[in-house]
Amino acid sequence: MKQTILVTGGAGYIGSHTCVELLASGYDIVVVDNFSNSKPAVLDRVGQISGQEFPWYEIDVRDRAALARVFGKHRFSGVLHCAGVKSIAEAQRDPLKYYQHNLEASLTLLEEMAERGLKRLVFSSSATVYGECTQIPYREESPLKPNTVYGRSKMVVEDVLHDLASADESWRIAILRYFNPVGAHPSGLIGEDPNGTPNNLMPYICQVAVGKQAELAIFGHDYPTPDGTGVRDYLHVADLAEGHVRALDYLGRETGLVTFNLGTGRGYSVLEVVRAFEHASGRAIPFRYAPRRSGDLASYYADTSRAANTLDWRAKRSLGEMCADAWRWQSKNPGGYA
Ligand code: UFG
Repeated sequence: MKQTILVTGGAGYIGSHTCVELLASGYDIVVVDNFSNSKPAVLDRVGQISGQEFPWYEIDVRDRAALARVFGKHRFSGVLHCAGVKSIAEAQRDPLKYYQHNLEASLTLLEEMAERGLKRLVFSSSATVYGECTQIPYREESPLKPNTVYGRSKMVVEDVLHDLASADESWRIAILRYFNPVGAHPSGLIGEDPNGTPNNLMPYICQVAVGKQAELAIFGHDYPTPDGTGVRDYLHVADLAEGHVRALDYLGRETGLVTFNLGTGRGYSVLEVVRAFEHASGRAIPFRYAPRRSGDLASYYADTSRAANTLDWRAKRSLGEMCADAWRWQSKNPGGYA
């Protein structure tokens, strides 16, 4: 019997790539999404890549009655909770929205799961929960001092999950702390399609490459890093998607709560990413140096040993592949899914 997994936010960037990987790994899926930052067309593409159809519902996870109807129609053996709002800048301007959306969605989902006796959950968290940590690489036990509202909204949900797992040992929970997911499915059919001007490096570079943006502003070149630009742990979204499936498999065997960093374990600077993208795309990426972006840290990357030892998961794809796949997606879909 195939297991059916509910994917919240399944039309989003991470969710859609994870849906492809779940289907390829023999799971059935049901997607819920409110399409606030994604489009239903994404799900057609997931179906096209996978050669499989699956049910999806346009609902907001905070709508308990709608969620209950979905739970009433299907028999789930686990949930991947990817739904959430994720702009660091918007969260600083509108903290209530971020606590409201990210907390209430998680609480509503957990209440529904608890009531149904479904206690297997993979939660999308972020390396941003570490904040200004003195020890690099970040380990899962590193202290959490998020320096943004967005980071705190994720940390609070992590706290809720810890309390839940302490109160009831039958929960099976994996918290995944993503570093910097980039790239796209190698088919070029799905990828990252941000609303408006991109906030993040790779989608911005992609839009410069297709002429939608004139030049990249590199935020800061006086950081204490080898070339002065910020260093991050970029990982291919397909590797990240595989990490979700490994975590879900693991929760089929084990109870309790466990947290995993998902990254490559090595950092690249903004300039290294620009050069790698130019090489992969054959396009020049004009840039200028701009002041540091508020809240940015100089350099961080993951200690990935726990995911390697416990899940037998390692990010395999290189920075060159991340850039080539991001470019394939952007050049085939210059206007995104529109
Ligand atoms: N950068 C630029 N110019 C841009 C955009 C980014 O120079 O136009 C630089 C940033 O200053 C930083 C690096 O590129 O040094 C990466 O920036 P991103 O915005 O792509 O990513 P962040 O590391 O700031 O944040 C990302 C996600 C967060 C997540 C975090 C976890 O956006 O949601 O990774 O590590 F929490």
